[in-house]
Amino acid sequence: MSSGVKKSGRLIKAPENFLTAQDARAPALMRRKFLAASASTAAASLAALGLSAPKNALASVGEGDPNILNLPAHTTGLGMPVAANPYGMPSQYEKGLQRRESPGLTRVSAASVAFTPLQGTFGIITPSGLHFERHHQGWWDIDPSKHRLMVMGLVKNPKVYTMDDIMRLPSVSRIHFIECGANTAMEWGNVAVPTVQYSHGMVSCSEFTGVPLAVLLEDCGIDRKAARYVLAEGADGSSMTRSIALDRALDDVIVAYGMNGEMLRPENGYPLRLVVPGIQGVSWVKWLRRIEVGDMKWAAKDESIHYIDLMPGGLHRQYTGIQEAKSVITTPSGGQTLLDKGFYNISGLAWSGRGKIRRVDISVDGGRNWRTARLESPILSKAFTRFNIDWVWNGGPAILQSRAQDDSGYVQPKINQLRAVRGTRSIYHQNAIQSWRVADNGEVSNVQVY
Ligand code: MTE
Repeated sequence: MSSGVKKSGRLIKAPENFLTAQDARAPALMRRKFLAASASTAAASLAALGLSAPKNALASVGEGDPNILNLPAHTTGLGMPVAANPYGMPSQYEKGLQRRESPGLTRVSAASVAFTPLQGTFGIITPSGLHFERHHQGWWDIDPSKHRLMVMGLVKNPKVYTMDDIMRLPSVSRIHFIECGANTAMEWGNVAVPTVQYSHGMVSCSEFTGVPLAVLLEDCGIDRKAARYVLAEGADGSSMTRSIALDRALDDVIVAYGMNGEMLRPENGYPLRLVVPGIQGVSWVKWLRRIEVGDMKWAAKDESIHYIDLMPGGLHRQYTGIQEAKSVITTPSGGQTLLDKGFYNISGLAWSGRGKIRRVDISVDGGRNWRTARLESPILSKAFTRFNIDWVWNGGPAILQSRAQDDSGYVQPKINQLRAVRGTRSIYHQNAIQSWRVADNGEVSNVQVY
């Protein structure tokens, strides 16, 4: 923070739900109401003490504050008993922070997306209840005692595992991000959505626990000479099947039953899902019921006609699974309103499907000048990395951007660089630098800078 600047900036959070045209005008209204309410509360407190309001009434909060002077019930009374909530839930005051569907994005909600509210999470772990959801044919809460995993194909001993069989095997726990290949897809052509929840909320990061796929493949006696690929299949009605190259399958892929210290949530594949670090979410097959070992790709529907990248010349690319380095500032971000000039902590998330984040640079002037952000530890491979940087807002217009670089040397591109190669008709793998415009009245909005 620069010396001499004492005041910390405060902001109004973005409205938590999807913005209609009317909602889009709400931050300005909220700001006016907030300023009026704060000023009148402070003035009333001062009047009670026989004092008059100084020029900046907001600066006097604390003196004669009834929230300090009057002891509340929680200081003088007996609190709630233990285990009143046998499964703990967030405070009632946090109930606005929810994953949310984007109305009209898909025709039915069973084949849709609920986005993670990235603007309201801290650190690198996404709370399980806020992990994004993407289902092709709805979700199920499957009875684990009846769930089976079949391993077959080019193996000496094909096997059927129960959940008990799997949970007795040696396990690992690893923190990884999962990002749907379609994250930020709506922004290929132009600005489409107002908040970071909808522009980037198809990504989450959790600690996953399970058995390395290599252990299961060895257990079944994989034919290493003939095998080239494995096919993963889910038990839901979407016939979700994806081919995974054998070297990857034997590397860091996990057959997972745990997420953030407990069993997977039903929406995220309970009781068993595949974790394919660094690869787009569609390969993380949920409700996993079958692994087949083969000698070539299967060209399944979700890898030959869906999840392909249409190129400008009309050809399309298949099997482009890796999620390249990407980052986004989560606060201040679209829909929020800065209330004062002064100090702000710009904070955000960076991730790369190729490894660790090496560096994140921040611009507050639309990419003319860059400063290097502080990366918070831990910095893990194929996981979220949290970054922060100090900023003193002078009350003028600003454009906030973050640019990630991973340990392969890859640098997150600008949107026009991405369009020059990929055109504008693509859906997947949109990892361009995100720009948030701060207007001189403090309102933050989604813009594209070329
Ligand atoms: N697996 C099955 N069986 N059915 C599905 O619909 N959706 C895929 C993948 N695995 C899907 C699936 C897609 S497109 C994504 S992005 C991720 O799951 C989303 O995982 P999540 O819902 O846990 O966030």
